[in-house]
Amino acid sequence: MTTTTLLIYVLAAVAAATWLRSRKQSPIPTIAEAEGVLSSHRTALRFLGNATDVVARGCHQFPEGVFRLPTLFRWEYVANGLQRLSEIAAAPENILSFHDGAADSLQTEYTIGAAVKHNPYHVATVRGSLTRNLARCFPDVRDEIVHAFNDVLALEGKEWKSFHVLPQVMQIVARTSNRLFVGLPLCRNQEFLDLNVNYTIHIFTRGQLIKLIPEFLKPTLAPWFSSKNSSLRHALKFLGPLLEERLAKDQELGADYPDRPNDAISWLLDIATDEERTVPALALRILVINMAAIHTSSTTLTSALYDLTMYPEHMQPMREEAERVIAEEGWSKASLASMHKIDSFLRESQRLSATGALGLTRRVVAKDGFTFSDGTTVPHGAFLSVPANAIHGDPDNYENPEVFDGFRFSRHRKQGSALADPEDTNVNGAVFTQHMVTTSPEHVAFGHGRHACPGRFFAATELKAMLAHMLINYDVKADVEGVRPSDMVFGAMRTPSATGKIMIRRRV
Ligand code: HEM
Ligand SMILES: *[C@@H]1O[C@H](CO)[C@@H](O)[C@H](O)[C@H]1NC(C)=O
Ligand SMILES: *[C@@H]1O[C@H](CO)[C@@H](O)[C@H](O)[C@H]1NC(C)=O
Ligand SMILES: *[C@@H]1O[C@H](CO)[C@@H](O)[C@H](O)[C@H]1NC(C)=O
Repeated sequence: MTTTTLLIYVLAAVAAATWLRSRKQSPIPTIAEAEGVLSSHRTALRFLGNATDVVARGCHQFPEGVFRLPTLFRWEYVANGLQRLSEIAAAPENILSFHDGAADSLQTEYTIGAAVKHNPYHVATVRGSLTRNLARCFPDVRDEIVHAFNDVLALEGKEWKSFHVLPQVMQIVARTSNRLFVGLPLCRNQEFLDLNVNYTIHIFTRGQLIKLIPEFLKPTLAPWFSSKNSSLRHALKFLGPLLEERLAKDQELGADYPDRPNDAISWLLDIATDEERTVPALALRILVINMAAIHTSSTTLTSALYDLTMYPEHMQPMREEAERVIAEEGWSKASLASMHKIDSFLRESQRLSATGALGLTRRVVAKDGFTFSDGTTVPHGAFLSVPANAIHGDPDNYENPEVFDGFRFSRHRKQGSALADPEDTNVNGAVFTQHMVTTSPEHVAFGHGRHACPGRFFAATELKAMLAHMLINYDVKADVEGVRPSDMVFGAMRTPSATGKIMIRRRV
């Protein structure tokens, strides 16, 4: 046994013991099987392997209430019911903190740094300038998609070739996203892309390790486990000279000199103040935006491709849609909005695959706890979530929820299309609210409410353009017919198989 492994075991034992002692009474009930200290440890272990099932039992036992579940490190409070979900989604950061929730799961203070939490201005950049510039920057994104698929797939002739989905999709997504974030030539630099892909994985794995360290030792020990400094140093090798030049130009010429690049560096500089206007601080934000973008978008496309090969009857209608729209309108952000079937397919894939057992995780930071409108109070310091998988699979929310029905959302749209604004209106004159980017209490793949993913407009644009590109240019089929590579599940976390393959060949 290596010293590191030994250390992990010792720390895990300490953490578990600490947790046991801190097992407080609470007015919020726990699920039946978890009553008693030993059974609560059994439930915590079962949660690791099959969280969805544990949460489903809770939802069954408390169909209209809040309950608690023991996990290895803490109690998870789960709020059932769409009304409660809406109340969580609407609560301000000083009552239910999104950042404190993330700070615990990923140990962000040590893995990323405190600045990102204390001044999350990059969120405003993504929500504002980045989203506003999507239509204008689309030709670059489209250009990068074409080149990235060509280079990464490296298909010659029209032979079927096996495609290792997640790692190769990550390369394509990282490269395409960085065309928008930092532009050419850096977006094609392999070492820079790998570094960004690795950074995400690092934050997750090192974060889990740091979580095992007792709180009072963290400030001393955590920095040694964190790759914060080394990742940033590595990123500066590429971003350093670029950011230095851009900062100097803004300093000298102001923020609207001719040919100022329209990229995330400019969008960050537009609102960065004081200590954020330094090369390392800006580089960190580029890393953080990459971290938020790459893993999520890549797993979403990977799941969609597994679904496409499992339910191949969707292929032809989507291909026809893409070919028709492109023939009529050409490639643009606006033409993607006419691809209703592709939009619906991705949304349906997200419904069934994008979420783990829990979603919308927040920490209760209000001194007196958080009180729902029905009077239930969740105590200060608690971690509060919604049963994301259960919501997406609830027959009250979806007809035949267990069926993958790729066009369930575009069919709704069609019923309303006789009206004046066919794009967005349904038969009752109400706005169509089931686009891929629409969040709702029934669809929380992008979260919901105040912290709903600000990058989802970019993600949807990028992923729809990628899927349309694939359908037009390639044939795909399952590696083994009828077998979907199984998801990896670890506690509330869920990702599509990282080793799964599909077959692919050039059509044209
Ligand atoms: C399909 C791809 C994506 C998925 C599934 C996804 C999902 C999510 C989810 C679930 C949240 C938390 C919402 C909540 O708890 O209410 C979130 C937050 C966030 N996402 Fe995404 N995301 C995706 C793509 C992106 C992209 C491309 C970017 C950046 C360009 C991005 C940037 C962010 C940021 C900055 C936050 C934090 C928001 C805040 O602090 O208020 N995401 N995302
Ligand atoms: C989780 O539990 C359910 C119900 O007991 C079972 O059907 C399912 O196969 C389990 N999943 C895993 C991954 O063990
Ligand atoms: C990324 O991680 C892989 C696997 O651990 C490693 O081989 C590679 O050198 C890393 N690349 C960069 C640029 O950090
Ligand atoms: C990381 O960088 C910070 C700021 O430059 C420095 O204060 C700290 O000592 C470094 N930590 C480690 C473990 O090298």
